[in-house]
Amino acid sequence: MAKRIEVSGLNVYYGDFKAVEDVSMTIEPRSVTAFIGPSGCGKSTYLRTLNRMHEVIPGARVEGKVMLDQQDLYATGVDPVAVRRVASTSRARVCRVVNSRGCASPGRSRSSPR
Ligand SMILES: Nc1ncnc2c1ncn2[C@@H]1O[C@H](COP(=O)(O)OP(=O)(O)OP(=O)(O)O)[C@@H](O)[C@H]1O
Ligand SMILES: [Mg+2]
Repeated sequence: MAKRIEVSGLNVYYGDFKAVEDVSMTIEPRSVTAFIGPSGCGKSTYLRTLNRMHEVIPGARVEGKVMLDQQDLYATGVDPVAVRRVASTSRARVCRVVNSRGCASPGRSRSSPR
């Protein structure tokens, strides 16, 4: 079933380096959202926070809130492996990755965007 993603006050770090600053946005169920921006602006970093894949990088961390319907994905007690499993099987995962040259990959779905 399609779910709503609601992100608020998201800051994403690699060690001391803040790669994504203060992002808040809502992605409605059954909608298509494209992230477009210059190389290095943080598109992939941001996307990885939506399925808790950012924190697998040593020194990486996330501040802020990511809600999947009523569930806070970063709440204490949430199993990141379970989140990744749901994200990899959910239709909500299907996205078109738009690279920095503005080319959309043709309908591919990725769990680990480049
Ligand atoms: N593993 C990492 N360790 C440290 N810094 C990183 C790491 N991965 C990305 N960064 C930095 O985080 C910032 C955002 O990078 P990111 O890869 O999210 O950008 P992007 O918008 O996806 O770029 P592109 O269009 O080239 O794919 C950049 O400054 C990048 O150098
Ligand atoms: Mg990228």
